[in-house]
Amino acid sequence: MRPRSIFGPSEAANGSGVRAVQYSWGGHSFRVRPWRVGSDEVYLGAITGSSPPDPGAVAQARDALAAAGWRRIYTNALNRSEIEGFEAAGFTVKDRLHLLTHSLRDLSRITGQAHLRRERRSDRGAILAVDSEAFSEFWRFDEAGIREAVTATPTARVRVADQGAVVGYAISGRAGAVGYLQRLAVSPRFQGQGLGRQLVTDGLHWMRRRGARSALVNTQYENERAYRLYLDMGFRPEPEGLVVLECELVPAS
Ligand SMILES: CC(C)(COP(=O)(O)OP(=O)(O)OC[C@H]1O[C@@H](n2cnc3c(N)ncnc32)[C@H](O)[C@@H]1OP(=O)(O)O)[C@@H](O)C(=O)NCCC(=O)NCCS
Repeated sequence: MRPRSIFGPSEAANGSGVRAVQYSWGGHSFRVRPWRVGSDEVYLGAITGSSPPDPGAVAQARDALAAAGWRRIYTNALNRSEIEGFEAAGFTVKDRLHLLTHSLRDLSRITGQAHLRRERRSDRGAILAVDSEAFSEFWRFDEAGIREAVTATPTARVRVADQGAVVGYAISGRAGAVGYLQRLAVSPRFQGQGLGRQLVTDGLHWMRRRGARSALVNTQYENERAYRLYLDMGFRPEPEGLVVLECELVPAS
């Protein structure tokens, strides 16, 4: 599973290594990709396995990424049981996220005016443009971010709101009995018209058709609009949220 060498920012900038690569450190699997194309910040995703990564495995990952030339690591959204190894290896909290759940037993009908359809190959540029209009710089997706959200679960669907042009999109996924709302964005000029609600309801129906019994979504603490929308739609906050951790790396001498 472990490639001969860990790709660094220069390989990523050349285009190779933009896809997430799976590495194994200390017996734990991680996914690695540039946080964003052209940056020297890197994403380290702990793959949920039987046990969370221990401090030794995280320290090995951290040191390998530092040696490859990366300057800062951001993790995936981690729960309490997963953070211990990272904190012991010097990671600190970058952002806190609410985790919300929704039973798929009773769903409201999909209402709304927007034309929702499946993503076409030619939509990807427009989807990225909506994403960067909707999200602050840190949370913006590039192509690799979208690919990661789509491949995070065994089945996934990218749905767009088409008002003559793509003005919103949602990525839904399913793993076993759990559906995941992986991404949701509406172009600011089209917000407040019910598109977000329509995309979420549509995603929940798809998850249920695919056999999921409950849905999960996370959102940053400061994203009050999304949080209110989810609560209003019947999502309930889990007692414990998630955190994204970061670690500044010392350049290898
Ligand atoms: C969160 C987000 C997707 C919501 O999309 P949206 O299309 O604005 O959502 P809706 O219109 O369905 O609902 C949002 C608000 O508009 C209101 N609204 C819905 N339909 C409306 C209508 N016809 N007229 C006026 N207001 C309406 C809703 O009550 C809601 O009000 P609130 O903000 O006071 O709670 C959008 O704000 C966005 O893209 N934000 C940035 C990215 C983001 O945060 N994504 C979610 C990350 S988890």
